Amino acid sequence: MAILSLFTLLLIVVLSSFQFVTSQVLHDQIILLSLGYELGVPGWSLNSSDHCSWPGIVCSLNNSMVERLDLSGHGLQGNVSRISELKALKSLDLSNNNFHGIIPPVFGNLSELEVLDMSFNKFESLIPLDIGRLRNLRYLNLSNNLLTGGIPNELGGLEKLEDIQLYSNYLNGSIPLWIGNLTYLRVFTAYENQLSGEIPEKLGSVSELRLLNLHSNQLEGFIPESIFANKKLEALVLTQNKLTGEIPESIGSCKSLSSVRIGNNKLVGSIPKAVGDISSLTYFEADNNNLSGEIVADFAKCSNLTLLNLASNGFAGTIPPELGQLNNLQELIVSGNSLFGEIPTSVLKCKNLNKLDLSNNRFNGSIPIDICYTTRLQYLLLSQNSMRGEIPGEIGNCNKLLQLEMGSNYLTGTIPPEIGRIKNLQIALNLSYNHLHGPVPQELGRLDKLVSLDLSNNQLSGNIPNSLKGMLSLIEVDFSNNQFTGPIPIFVPFQKSSKSSYSGNKGLCGAPLSSSCDSLNGYGNGDYHHRVSYRIILAVIGSGFLVFLSVTVVVCLFMMRERQEKAAKAAITVEEEICEKPEILAGSVFTENLRQAIDFDAVVEATMKDSNKLSTGTFSTVYKAEMPSGMTLSVKKLKSMDRTILHQQHKMIRELEKLSKLSHDNLMRPIGFVIYEEVALLLHQYFPNGTLAHFLHESSKEPEFKPDWHTRLSIAIGVAEALAFLHHVAIIHLDISSGNILLDPNFKPLVGEVEISKLLDPSRGTASISAVAGSFGYIPPEYAYTMQVTAPGNVYSYGVVLLEILTTKLPVDESFAEGLDLVKWVHGAPSRGETPEQILDPRLSTVSFTWRKEMLAALKVALMCTDSTPAKRPRMKSVIDMLREIVQD
Ligand SMILES: *[C@@H]1O[C@H](CO)[C@@H](O)[C@H](O)[C@H]1NC(C)=O
Ligand SMILES: *[C@@H]1O[C@H](CO)[C@@H](O)[C@H](O)[C@H]1NC(C)=O
Ligand SMILES: *[C@@H]1O[C@H](CO)[C@@H](O)[C@H](O)[C@H]1NC(C)=O
Ligand SMILES: *[C@@H]1O[C@H](CO)[C@@H](O)[C@H](O)[C@H]1NC(C)=O
Ligand SMILES: *[C@@H]1O[C@H](CO)[C@@H](O)[C@H](O)[C@H]1NC(C)=O
Ligand SMILES: *[C@@H]1O[C@H](CO)[C@@H](O)[C@H](O)[C@H]1NC(C)=O
Ligand SMILES: *[C@@H]1O[C@H](CO)[C@@H](O)[C@H](O)[C@H]1NC(C)=O
Ligand SMILES: *[C@@H]1O[C@H](CO)[C@@H](O)[C@H](O)[C@H]1NC(C)=O
Ligand SMILES: *[C@@H]1O[C@H](CO)[C@@H](O)[C@H](O)[C@H]1NC(C)=O
Repeated sequence: MAILSLFTLLLIVVLSSFQFVTSQVLHDQIILLSLGYELGVPGWSLNSSDHCSWPGIVCSLNNSMVERLDLSGHGLQGNVSRISELKALKSLDLSNNNFHGIIPPVFGNLSELEVLDMSFNKFESLIPLDIGRLRNLRYLNLSNNLLTGGIPNELGGLEKLEDIQLYSNYLNGSIPLWIGNLTYLRVFTAYENQLSGEIPEKLGSVSELRLLNLHSNQLEGFIPESIFANKKLEALVLTQNKLTGEIPESIGSCKSLSSVRIGNNKLVGSIPKAVGDISSLTYFEADNNNLSGEIVADFAKCSNLTLLNLASNGFAGTIPPELGQLNNLQELIVSGNSLFGEIPTSVLKCKNLNKLDLSNNRFNGSIPIDICYTTRLQYLLLSQNSMRGEIPGEIGNCNKLLQLEMGSNYLTGTIPPEIGRIKNLQIALNLSYNHLHGPVPQELGRLDKLVSLDLSNNQLSGNIPNSLKGMLSLIEVDFSNNQFTGPIPIFVPFQKSSKSSYSGNKGLCGAPLSSSCDSLNGYGNGDYHHRVSYRIILAVIGSGFLVFLSVTVVVCLFMMRERQEKAAKAAITVEEEICEKPEILAGSVFTENLRQAIDFDAVVEATMKDSNKLSTGTFSTVYKAEMPSGMTLSVKKLKSMDRTILHQQHKMIRELEKLSKLSHDNLMRPIGFVIYEEVALLLHQYFPNGTLAHFLHESSKEPEFKPDWHTRLSIAIGVAEALAFLHHVAIIHLDISSGNILLDPNFKPLVGEVEISKLLDPSRGTASISAVAGSFGYIPPEYAYTMQVTAPGNVYSYGVVLLEILTTKLPVDESFAEGLDLVKWVHGAPSRGETPEQILDPRLSTVSFTWRKEMLAALKVALMCTDSTPAKRPRMKSVIDMLREIVQD
């Protein structure tokens, strides 16, 4: 303290000698200097005597007092109490730092304050009552902290409040009644807390309210009728609460509503016909309630409706044919109801339909031959219904399908060979529990992306065709309970499957069955499991979404071209071949000193040669490109498959540029882009060492493998640093996986795929239709119900990467038992009586006692990161601290 006073005194002397300053201004400067000193704010120093020019500071024009202070995103910590002495402060932004402790009650002295943003820190304990003295406050953001207790009544006097954001804390108690008295309130979010009680009826009198988001609390009671009375509400998100009662009839009077998400509650009754009056409706999600009655045809009047999810309710009746008028409909999900009738052919004509989920109902009739009237269909889910007749060969027209589920129906006839034309099929092909007969068509072998094939419980006969060896991505098969004969083809996925996948057949022989093919009489004993592993589905859905994302990026890029062309023509030719020398439509290199070295024509040419291919995904391919200058680039080529989502290309390019400027040693930044024809290319630096996945799972199999724990640990720390940095600047990574982490020649990790994360941030817009999960095996468990990727979700995915580093096992490894992934396998070790030594890669953990000890410490961190409760996971910053301590100890 004495030192600080001396310091202050010294400053006063120094400052006074500069120029004339009023005492209050001098006071502000001293406060800033001591704050800068306490918090370590970069760039606040005396070489510029005018503190108004320091970074993050804006002064009033007439008297040079500090009016705005922006310290966001600097990773700061320390005591911020003295900010309360900046008397003229109108706007204070402390968001995205590492501040902890209580929110200083002296902030109540900032009587001029209009904007207070303390979000994304670790402020804890109660919200101080003194905040209630900030009479001029308009924006209050305390979200993403560790705040507890209730929302204090003292805030009720802040009549000017327009925005209150309190989400992701541990707040409890009920939503205060005074919220209904705030005349100017536009935004109120308090999701992901522990709020209980009812939603105050009076909220309805808040005439400016546009966004109300209270999901994932424990709210009870009714959705207040009056909420819809104000005509301005745009988004209502009440998912995952305990709300009861009916959807109020008044909903129809709220014409501005665009997004209604009320799933996972206990709502009853039918959907009011008045929904048809909500002309702006784009997103209606009411799954997992106890709603009943018929699906109202009035939805057809909501011409912008993009998603309708009524799954897992008690709806009966048929699907109204009028829904076919919904030209914008992308997803129709009505699984788990009691609907019947034929597959609504009119709906199949919705030209943007991407997902049709009718499963687990009582639909009957046959599968229409124009099932793929819309070629955009990616998910066709018809299982557990009463469909009859044959599967039409026209199913082969569904060439965009990723998942085809027709199990548990009464389908007859043979499997049409045309299914082999659905080259994109990857999540699952399920025809189980039907009455199909005849042979398995050879053509199925062409489905080289398919992960899960279930033909069980039919009357299929003949051999399992050798051509199925073409299914290179297969993980799970089920041929059980048919009349198959002959040898099981020698093909790794076949032999790795359990015996039960072949049981109940007439005469199958060979591994994995115990009957050898010399004596053709042994067949299975009928212990049959009809279950497509959930993990696979989830994983593939994850990658499917990712694909969707990449596509979105491309679509954005396309907009540039689209505008130049006449709208009518371009729409159909999607996958046309690139001709001789394509015209480059747009391109840019963000880094000045690389501009000379990069030649766009050479970039484009490189992507024309297969020999340059480094890796291929369904919708993107990475090429190596040698520039005439001698530089080598990695070029990611994205192809267009879908044009349903329209974003502005300028915004996107700006985002790319911004990202290119993000400076962190462990981030892979885009260095430019090129657009030609239908193709968008993203340019990155080239790293010959490949990815972390390759390093862990391929290189380590080579004979010259040298165990090096410290390299692995420093990779883990580097990745953690990149993520901590991203979280600081409020970016949530959408696809953390070892395959997206590159290694430079010194094994420094670089986290990639950040651009996708930034271009599409699903945690923002409440109306975002495309949920994003991440990759195979890295998806946090809470994602299943929140459909949001959050910072704790990132920590989980990071934990999976750390487990991969420690165990050298894949996130979904074939060595695990059914239904287990890496996380479950590790967490379950104690209950299986296994020691940590049996979990860690023994090639490292047995090298030295020190290594073993350090690996065990890192394992502890990984277990914390992969805790199933998001709130219990540490933040990235403390992960770094914990990992660093391991080395020091
Ligand atoms: C302030 O001084 C430091 C060195 O003492 C220098 O690095 C920095 O650029 C100076 N800042 C300004 C704004 O002149
Ligand atoms: C500075 O301007 C503000 C309004 O912008 C006013 O309230 C204040 O009194 C002015 N101060 C001085 C010293 O003129
Ligand atoms: C922060 O500093 C103020 C004095 O400026 C002091 O009263 C307070 O106790 C400090 N808070 C903490 C948590 O150290
Ligand atoms: C804050 O205001 C209280 C009165 O509300 C006053 O007693 C106190 O001295 C003020 N604190 C500072 C640091 O100005
Ligand atoms: C906090 O909330 C305000 C008001 O809604 C918003 O403008 C601001 O961007 C939020 N801060 C962060 C870091 O998201
Ligand atoms: C809220 O949580 C605190 C602990 O953080 C507890 O003491 C209090 O009783 C809770 N209040 C309600 C209404 O649940
Ligand atoms: C809301 O305002 C009304 C009238 O101004 C007042 O009577 C009531 O007490 C206020 N309610 C709350 C909870 O502050
Ligand atoms: C449908 O969406 C478009 C584009 O967002 C918008 O311009 C239009 O007003 C919307 N239609 C209705 C009826 O709200
Ligand atoms: C759902 O509602 C029906 C009446 O519509 C009722 O019989 C049933 O018990 C309810 N189920 C649940 C789980 O609340």
